[in-house]
Amino acid sequence: MTDRVSIVEVGPRDGLQNEPYTIPTEVKVELIDRLSATGLPVIEATSFVSAPAIPQLADAEDVYSRIERRAGVRYPVLVPNLKGYERARAVGAEEIAVFTAASEAFNQKNINCSIAESMERFKPVVERARADGVRVRGYVSTVLGCPYQGEVPVSEVVRVAEALDQAGCAEISLGDTIGVGTPAKARAVIETVAKSIPVERLAVHFHDTYGQALANIHACIEAGIRTVDSSVAGLGGCPYARGATGNVATEDVVYMLQGLGLDCGVDLKALAQVGDWIAGELGRPRSRTGQAILKR
Ligand code: HMG
Ligand code: MG
Repeated sequence: MTDRVSIVEVGPRDGLQNEPYTIPTEVKVELIDRLSATGLPVIEATSFVSAPAIPQLADAEDVYSRIERRAGVRYPVLVPNLKGYERARAVGAEEIAVFTAASEAFNQKNINCSIAESMERFKPVVERARADGVRVRGYVSTVLGCPYQGEVPVSEVVRVAEALDQAGCAEISLGDTIGVGTPAKARAVIETVAKSIPVERLAVHFHDTYGQALANIHACIEAGIRTVDSSVAGLGGCPYARGATGNVATEDVVYMLQGLGLDCGVDLKALAQVGDWIAGELGRPRSRTGQAILKR
């Protein structure tokens, strides 16, 4: 098992999508460019979704066109359908993520269709992407609980993850959308999904509502996970998951990984400075690690 962990920084997308006031495009561009200078290998830049669904990211074309594409850094974007795919490709996106959930109720609120319909919708997107040489990540939301239906059977998580895998997704990110998971349960879900999809192709995406995200990540790393999603300054939330707080903070994840002797290639001090800046811009709290390092 490798000692390297890849962090997928989702701050500019997941972190910003639920912010209540309109963030200027230049702040979004600056955030991505500053993050790319910290050694982060993958930065999810924005979403090409419908503007009424996520008004905050309605400037996706503008943001994507204006970022500085640093060599060695990948900039995937979220797309919900072929229309989103075409928009993303028109501005040069080379990597995408499609998304669905293991819970019917959440899918209806989030993307206005059933799980089965979402699978029909993302299949042609993944097919087009593969034909174009575009790498596709697939997200499964609500893997540890749903804001509307509560418990989500692991069998549903497996079924949806397998569907994404069979459709051709290179990587599958398992999301605790509302941050209700605890370590043993998180690990059990990973181990169960890893029976049919190699753990090297799985990622974890934990929101930190109950302060469990780091513990959950640690448990999943012990189960072989080497790709971790996180958000600078712990920004984040999903408008279709009320009460859920941000993603786990990237600064806290990097600090933990360094302590475990796992390399992620990120300059923690530089990252803490970016976190400090964006938290100030948005009037949000700093990450725990950011506060400690910068003595704020
Ligand atoms: P719909 O209303 O059912 O779809 O939305 P529609 O196809 O009937 O389209 C309605 C209108 O939207 C039409 O416009 C379309 O053209 C337009 P009109 O003809 O009425 O003027 N439209 C679009 N416009 C721009 N870009 C597009 C697009 N598609 C349609 N791509 C849809 C269905 C999926 C589009 C909508 O519900 C949507 O965009 N939802 C996105 C929701 C979202 O982004 N949620 C947050 C991301 S998921 C998340 O955060 C979880 C994650 O972090 C993991 C975790 O934490 O678990 C990934
Ligand atoms: Mg999320």
